[in-house]
Amino acid sequence: MGSEVKLSVLFTRDEIAATVNKLAAEIRQDYLSKNPVLIAVLKGSFMFLADLIRLLDFPLEVEFIRLSSYGGGRESSGKIKVVQGLQSEVRGRHVLVIEDIIDTGLTADFLLDYLRQKKPASLKLCVLTDKPARRKTPVNIDYRGLTVPDKFIVGYGLDWDERFRHLPDIYVVEDKG
Ligand code: IMP
Ligand code: MG
Repeated sequence: MGSEVKLSVLFTRDEIAATVNKLAAEIRQDYLSKNPVLIAVLKGSFMFLADLIRLLDFPLEVEFIRLSSYGGGRESSGKIKVVQGLQSEVRGRHVLVIEDIIDTGLTADFLLDYLRQKKPASLKLCVLTDKPARRKTPVNIDYRGLTVPDKFIVGYGLDWDERFRHLPDIYVVEDKG
């Protein structure tokens, strides 16, 4: 536990920036005149959202939703609930979900179902990182950034038990020793 955790760089801030640029260009093409609602999933996607929307030079709105996920460990419980809901109506709107990572897919699957029930005009998913090796349920990713190996990653918003979120690069948590 504690301070002896070893981190090794997986994606540098430059690689992340290039990826965010690429995603922004794709999103711009599709949403230019749609005044979309971007729904960022807290807490992990706040940094990605902040960088992404600064590259989107057209009308859009931002919403946040908070779901329960990992608790204190590295494993998803699979039991997901909305901890903090939306502040505005998304019925009839073009909704784009912004996620930090798709791991088992259980969170995204839950969230997309939840949002679909609110009858948006369209519903798509943008993810910065994708860990396909751990998928337990299929998830359709409309805008995909970086593919990550079957390792636990931190930084650029991603945490391990609330640690390392603030790091500007993305790291793999190596087993200690
Ligand atoms: P899921 O397993 O796809 O449901 O992922 C649920 C959530 O677990 C993600 O939104 C992240 O917040 C978190 N998560 C999954 N894998 C990692 C990781 O490698 N590092 C940090 N958080 C992760
Ligand atoms: Mg998350």
